[in-house]
Amino acid sequence: MSVSRLELDWQRSLSRRRSAPAYLMEEDGESVGFATAALWPRDRSLFGLAGEVQMLYLAPSHIGRGLGRALFAHTLDALARSGRYWVIVWVLALNRKARDFYEQAGLRPDGATRVDWFGAQPFRVLRYAAALNPVVDFGALAREASAADTDD
Ligand SMILES: CC(C)(COP(=O)(O)OP(=O)(O)OC[C@H]1O[C@@H](n2cnc3c(N)ncnc32)[C@H](O)[C@@H]1OP(=O)(O)O)[C@@H](O)C(=O)NCCC(=O)NCCS
Repeated sequence: MSVSRLELDWQRSLSRRRSAPAYLMEEDGESVGFATAALWPRDRSLFGLAGEVQMLYLAPSHIGRGLGRALFAHTLDALARSGRYWVIVWVLALNRKARDFYEQAGLRPDGATRVDWFGAQPFRVLRYAAALNPVVDFGALAREASAADTDD
């Protein structure tokens, strides 16, 4: 695909997004990464309460400097402020680095999987999730439960 065709696709897609978050990260005037998110994922099993981080990409020369963490946190803030209760991210099972990154950020696989096709090749994709705006602090409940187990 040519660069001008890609540019046109992005212009169309960004103009359709309305209030959905899309961020470009810049350093010294240079574009170093971007993130896009959806407030209304089409997946009905999420009840319209989840936000999805759809794309999170850094320029290869800027990977591993903490910029991805900052951009991801900024995107999660936007989803939390928009009233989403949890965040999901679909990650290629083979993308171990991205899976480690999301796990380090507190997300966990929630059991949902799908298969994406790139040409004739199927790839397994895992859904990761974490709470935003939690009504119930599941982490605190789990800690209390494990403390009670230890006391028994
Ligand atoms: C995934 C990505 C956005 C992470 O951004 P990043 O700037 O490289 O990550 P950070 O430097 O902010 O790292 C944050 C934490 O994630 C973890 N992490 C990041 N890269 C990792 C790697 N390659 N292996 C293991 N853990 C990693 C680390 O624990 C790190 O914490 P630490 O600094 O305490 O060690 C970036 O590497 C990227 O653009 N990758 C290619 C595109 C991609 O795969 N996107 C995800 C599609 S779902």
